[in-house]
Parts: sequence; C-alpha cells; structure tokens
Amino acid sequence: MQQHTSRAVRLDAFGGPEVLDVQEVPVPQAGQGQVRVRVTAAGLNPMDWIMTADADTAARFGLSLPAGFGTDYAGVVDQVGAGVTGFAPGDRVFGGALSRAVADFVVVDAAGGTAANEAHHTPDGVDDRTAATLAIAGRTASAALAVVRPGPADTVLIGGAGGGVGVFAVQLARIAGARVIGTGSAASADFLRELGAEPVTYGDGLADRVRALAPGGVTAAIDLHGTETAHTARELGVPDGRICTIAAQVDGVSAANGANAAAGALDEIARLVAAGRLRVSIAASFPVEQIRRAAELQAGRHVHGKVVIDL
Ligand SMILES: NC(=O)c1ccc[n+]([C@@H]2O[C@H](COP(=O)([O-])OP(=O)(O)OC[C@H]3O[C@@H](n4cnc5c(N)ncnc54)[C@H](OP(=O)(O)O)[C@@H]3O)[C@@H](O)[C@H]2O)c1
Repeated sequence: MQQHTSRAVRLDAFGGPEVLDVQEVPVPQAGQGQVRVRVTAAGLNPMDWIMTADADTAARFGLSLPAGFGTDYAGVVDQVGAGVTGFAPGDRVFGGALSRAVADFVVVDAAGGTAANEAHHTPDGVDDRTAATLAIAGRTASAALAVVRPGPADTVLIGGAGGGVGVFAVQLARIAGARVIGTGSAASADFLRELGAEPVTYGDGLADRVRALAPGGVTAAIDLHGTETAHTARELGVPDGRICTIAAQVDGVSAANGANAAAGALDEIARLVAAGRLRVSIAASFPVEQIRRAAELQAGRHVHGKVVIDL
C-alpha cells in the first residue's frame, strides 16, 4: 500500500531547539529531474540552528514557515522523476537538502551540485550515518584547505580542530603531509591526538603555547571557530595569504565557504572515507523523536566531530 504521510522535523516559529517538532507531513513526490530519497540518517551543522533561529536570518536563506530543519542527509532513492539519468530506486545516496533533511523523505535535483539540493552515490564501505556528515563539513574543510594549500613542508595551526569541520580539516592536512597543531579545550586533547593533530588549548597565551610546540614556526593557519587562530597566526608571522577563516571575517584574510569548494571535492572526501584514509567521528546519534536534545548538543559548540539523527 502506498504511504501517504511521513515524519519531518518542522518549525511553526523560528527560535531555538524548543521550536523543533516531529510532525506528520504528506510524502513529497519527485518531479521532473528529481529523485526522492528515503532518508536514514541526517547530520547536523551549526548552520541548521543559525538559519532557523530568527525570521531575518531565515529569510536570507529563503526559508519561510512552516520550515524544515537540517541539511546533510543519507539514504536510499525510492522514486525517480521523469528525465532522471544516473539514479535508480534502491541506489544509496547522500548529499544536501537545504533545511529539510531531518525527515523520512527528501526530494532533490538529480543534477544538483550544491549542499542545498543534490544527491551523490554513496560509495561501498561508507555507512549511512557517516555519509550523512559529509556534505557541508567535508566541502568546507576542502575549501579551507584549497586556500592555504598545506604540504609536507608546512606546520598548520587549525583553530577549533575537534569540531565538525575540524575532523575533516585536520585529516586532510595530514593526508597532504603537513604537521598539524589543533586548538581545543584541555578536555579535547586526546581526541585531537587521535585525529592526528598536536593539541594546544585555545585562549589567552595561545601564541606562546604554539611557539613552545613549534619553535621552527607555523606556516599556515585555518580558523574554524572565530578569529583567535587567525590573529595568532599573524602574530606568529604567517602571511595573510596562508591564513583563512570560515566562521568570521578578518580584514585581509580569505574567508573560505563550503559552497565554493571545487567540483568533485565531496565525492573525493567520500572516496577517502571509503578507502579508510579519513575517519569521521560521530559524537552522538539520536532517534528523530529526540531532535531537540540533538540540536541542543550541537549548539553547545563542544562536540567532537558530528551529531547525527537516525530516521
Ligand atoms: N563558511 C562555511 O562554509 C561554513 C561551513 C560550515 C561551518 N561554518 C561555521 O564554522 C564554524 C565551525 O563549524 P563546525 O561544524 O566545526 O562547528 P562545531 O562542530 O560546533 O565546533 C565545535 C568545536 O568548536 C570548538 N570550540 C569551542 N569553543 C572554542 C574556542 N573558543 N576556540 C576554538 N575552538 C572552540 C570545540 O572545541 P572544545 O570542545 O575543545 O571546546 C569543538 O570541538 C561554525 O561557526 C559554523 O557556523 C562555516
């Protein structure tokens, strides 16, 4: 029997985790050029709650009420619209569906190529929870790496190295052959070591602590949290052209954006995961009914890696 309703996280007002509810909604239908995906896992990112926190920010992203929630997803194609090539029912896929991913079904453009609206084949060897973490954080790390271009001669300082983007940035820089020093709280030191970074605590005195760890100097920096790492890198003599931010602006320094990652960057990250060369840490997973708890954990800004919702 055909299913007519499905679950989706919806908001009837913009605000914090308390406005997130699981509602019954009509099952969406794939139109021309689209595929419908039965979502099995959705990964959370700070942008999920940033863009649904207030009406003005939501409007900048084209959202109106009732709105959905979450962008990164993974699942299985279960309906294919007219004119679609390259996808068939039963294909495992992952990607982005802007602010509508935490739902039993998403409909995306088969030919779409941005984290707002896309499907990519999930490589064998990548489970759905992991695939659901790749679209935004993987592309953003890739875009940041493209700015500073680390190599074997580099010592890279990465700020906020244990977060969702950090787990990708640290490992990509290590794969490129660089030495990585990553900032985190003292409680994150072991986690950063497991990722391949040498831990240093953020906060006052960061430059001195980095000098002690790397007397030979730091040659590049990626600030994934704010501006402290970018300013510290300047203080340590790193040229502006080898510093980038992703979460705040510093005059003269490039701000990397996941939307500007190279075509193919996301599939390359998925291949690295499938090959066992890049591991995604999943800090916690929650059933969809616990979406508020999951969003609160993510918004606390101290997760190690990614938070995932199971559907
Ligand atoms: N430009 C883009 O395209 C783009 C894309 C994705 C994300 N972003 C932005 O980039 C930022 C990072 O995203 P994310 O997904 O990695 O976030 P996240 O997962 O929430 O980051 C959590 C990490 O931040 C660290 N942290 C907390 N306070 C810190 C501080 N004062 N200094 C340095 N690190 C600190 C935490 O380390 P401890 O637990 O050790 O404290 C934790 O590991 C967010 O602001 C997000 O909105 C931008």
